Amino acid sequence: KWGLNTSWLGSKIIHKESTPSTQVIAHQLAQEGSPHGTIVLADEQTSGRGRLNREWFSSKGKGIWMSIILRPEILPYLAPQLTLLTATVLAEVVQKNTTVTPMIKWPNDILINKKKTAGILTEMQAEQDQIQYVIIGIGMNINQTKEDIPIEIQSKATSLRVESSEKHSIKQFIHLILEEFEKAYDSYLINGFPEVKKKWERYGFKIGESISITTLRDQFQAIFSGIAEDGALLVKQKDGEIKKLYSAEIEWFKD
Ligand code: BTN
Repeated sequence: KWGLNTSWLGSKIIHKESTPSTQVIAHQLAQEGSPHGTIVLADEQTSGRGRLNREWFSSKGKGIWMSIILRPEILPYLAPQLTLLTATVLAEVVQKNTTVTPMIKWPNDILINKKKTAGILTEMQAEQDQIQYVIIGIGMNINQTKEDIPIEIQSKATSLRVESSEKHSIKQFIHLILEEFEKAYDSYLINGFPEVKKKWERYGFKIGESISITTLRDQFQAIFSGIAEDGALLVKQKDGEIKKLYSAEIEWFKD
């Protein structure tokens, strides 16, 4: 029915017209043993969620609301690499198929003109040193007009349509993302993380760039100095010390 050009990704696809969250369904399916590459898709989510338990607006037919079940044979601490891989996939698809230029904001936001157009929610079930499954949730705003975007997030959220003045086929975008994802994932298994990192750096912060960082504890300015093997953000502080951050909100530093 979907006519995908993939070999394992999407071998099983569950499509719902409306559901609270594809992420919740994906967890259930994974626990019941659904295979690597299973996809859960919805036209609409009634309680979509983002990182840090934030609400994720997912209105009917306006974007991609999808969760991918993966069973990677990697160590649990490397799972954030999959978030970075997914971010590069989304950025590449936008770059190749639209007139706008995507940027990746660590760890998981795809921005256009500094406003968020897509986000990734990676959740993992692991026991000791073994991953049972990883769910990659992808939310991508595609055909919302400015009026469709809730007023309280208009200053930071956008859609491909708002930024490019073009409408896109959601179905075609799903195809593009899944095909690109499968290629990137297969190549990651063979070539490892360095290749993902190289691609990420094409769309992400540039080394040497000033960023402003908010963690639970404090807020400070620093210099972006790369991504670590485990997906952590590396920043150089004023005193020259390199800090590794696993969870933080980043902004470009404005004078
Ligand atoms: C974020 O930027 O905070 C992540 C957003 C992830 C949203 C997607 S939409 C499909 C899947 N189902 C959810 O409830 N959330 C993810």
